[in-house]
Amino acid sequence: MNIIENLWQTDHIIRGWLKEVREDILSELHDPLAVAEKTSRKDLVTNVDKANEKKIIKAIRSFDSQAKILGEEGQGDQVTSMQGHVWIIDPLDGTLNFVKQRDNFAVMIALYIDGKGILGYIMDVMRNRIYGGGPSLGVFTQDNELTKPTNLHLRDGLLGVSGPMLIHDKYHLQAIDEASSGVRIIGSAGIEFIQVLKGKQNGYISHLMPWDFAAGKILAETLNLSVTKVDGTPVDMLSSNDVLVSTKDTQKDILNMIR
Ligand code: 2AM
Ligand code: CA
Repeated sequence: MNIIENLWQTDHIIRGWLKEVREDILSELHDPLAVAEKTSRKDLVTNVDKANEKKIIKAIRSFDSQAKILGEEGQGDQVTSMQGHVWIIDPLDGTLNFVKQRDNFAVMIALYIDGKGILGYIMDVMRNRIYGGGPSLGVFTQDNELTKPTNLHLRDGLLGVSGPMLIHDKYHLQAIDEASSGVRIIGSAGIEFIQVLKGKQNGYISHLMPWDFAAGKILAETLNLSVTKVDGTPVDMLSSNDVLVSTKDTQKDILNMIR
């Protein structure tokens, strides 16, 4: 099937994969998790992260023979360029929340073709909501289309941030937060992106890997939001970045404060 010519059908299929993954997660929710540390005691991976990734990769491979797959747990491919069909997946975003709260975690899938964002999906597992779509479709949850958030200034809305970046005052983040209406820390990039897509937060700043922002970037840009590095330059899709997603006016306000 030609994906570009059948975007709505592809959208339907991807949402189906996510629903299956959600059922798997819910069935594991009350069982003891196998938790392992990756780089630190705050950077975790569980049996559920790995099982989700395996399932999503299998689904993508049987759907798209041209797929190159970049996944957080490394069961996909070594992706070194954005040429062709590149699927970027986070099988469980906010793993620390998953382990400690059994809440506020997401599953994310993005498809880029020749570097252009085509389709992005963020599933808020516990609230049973999938936010998905892309530039040709718009952004939908269930059957509701999201409208473009109001272009608020920094002072007129809430700002989501990464806890470590705020604690270390990177980019004068403490002053930036003080200039906003208030600061929020959720601990899942996917859930933070959803807050910005819905206009409940003006923006979000965090140090993120490609799978943490790949889907959110497509959805945010579709809704006229800006997604760049904190210094305003374009993000690199194949490495970690200090990412700012926000309304355009909030981005300008923040750039004025860090320059
Ligand atoms: P993850 O749970 O998929 O690893 C936490 O503030 C947010 O930042 C989460 O979305 C988390 O994604 C992401 N993150 C990116 N790099 C991280 C790291 N080295 N350690 C912990 N969280 C990280
Ligand atoms: Ca993850």
